[in-house]
Amino acid sequence: MSVPLFDAATPRAGLREELRAAIDRVLETERFILGPEVAGFERELAHYCATGYAVGVANGTDAITIALRAMGVGPGDEVVVPSFTFYASVEAIVHTGATPVFCDIEADTYCATADTVHAALTPRAKAVIAVHLFGNVAPVPEIEALGVPVLEDAAQALGSESAFGRPGSLGMAATVSFYPSKNLPAFGDAGAILTSEESIAEQARILRFHGSRDKVDYEQVGYNSRLDELQAAILRVQLPYLQRWADGRRQAARHYEEAGLGELVGLPQPVPGASPAWHLYVVSHPDVERVERALAAAGIGCKAYYRTPVHRQAPMREWGAGVRLPATEHAARTHLAIPMSPVLTRAQADEVAAAARAVAG
Ligand SMILES: Cc1ncc(COP(=O)(O)O)c(C=O)c1O
Repeated sequence: MSVPLFDAATPRAGLREELRAAIDRVLETERFILGPEVAGFERELAHYCATGYAVGVANGTDAITIALRAMGVGPGDEVVVPSFTFYASVEAIVHTGATPVFCDIEADTYCATADTVHAALTPRAKAVIAVHLFGNVAPVPEIEALGVPVLEDAAQALGSESAFGRPGSLGMAATVSFYPSKNLPAFGDAGAILTSEESIAEQARILRFHGSRDKVDYEQVGYNSRLDELQAAILRVQLPYLQRWADGRRQAARHYEEAGLGELVGLPQPVPGASPAWHLYVVSHPDVERVERALAAAGIGCKAYYRTPVHRQAPMREWGAGVRLPATEHAARTHLAIPMSPVLTRAQADEVAAAARAVAG
């Protein structure tokens, strides 16, 4: 039995009629940009995340750039960010004109901590990006206590919970991605900014709209980066199911634990107080390439996402040269994402464990 790395189609199978009706609704109105679907989705998403405002944008990368600028980040500022993340978390900083400063992570959780951020802080730091990697929830209140505003990169963490609230409501602002493989998937690129501060939401709305309120007068050099009506309508159909899908991801993690996978590979550890809706289920092993080969030979989807951490990617040379991040390097060498979805069964978890056992044996 092969087991796919992702499965977005099965959970959505019963929603076809609802999705078609939502698409038809947009066709009927002929409103495609910044209409009632985007406004409705922004209200519903802000409510789900228990925060004041959501601003829909074109993707999760623009969301970070726009959120940072709305928080006042620009040339001359530093932004602390983990290197063990998707490239876009850092790329988006560079687009603001600010300087990325790389920090380390905690090896078991794959998230930055107050200590790893503290080690990278200088007086020029204007913000910290706390990446809720793989669906884990970085300790935002502890990082914020260092005295620097936090932007949550929650691209991978919709549906997760923490002792302090949901991702999206923990920092000064947060960003999410609705890329088709994400926990709440669009049918293309889409993203959003979340914040409880009205002034940040207002700036984000202006920035996504060419730096204007009306496309007549311009206050800033902004972006053409709007969530479109079709994607918003599709996301509105699925948002009511996010909680169920998130619970399915938590259940899938329990299946892996009960299948004894923890005896064979290192399992990801939730940050204390977090209940992750694992977007990617990332295990570790000292000889991870052997595990990768064994799983692939058994037809089990697996992928190493961040073998080269961001600070060692060529375009980051200017900011990454000479940076030493031991836990990041260890995670980069030893991690492997294995199948995860809201509908992963115990039988599939057993299959994955059996393939991994072949390596251990
Ligand atoms: C951690 C992280 N940050 C940012 C992004 C960027 O999102 P998008 O692909 O929607 O631009 C992604 C996802 O792709 C991500 O995983």
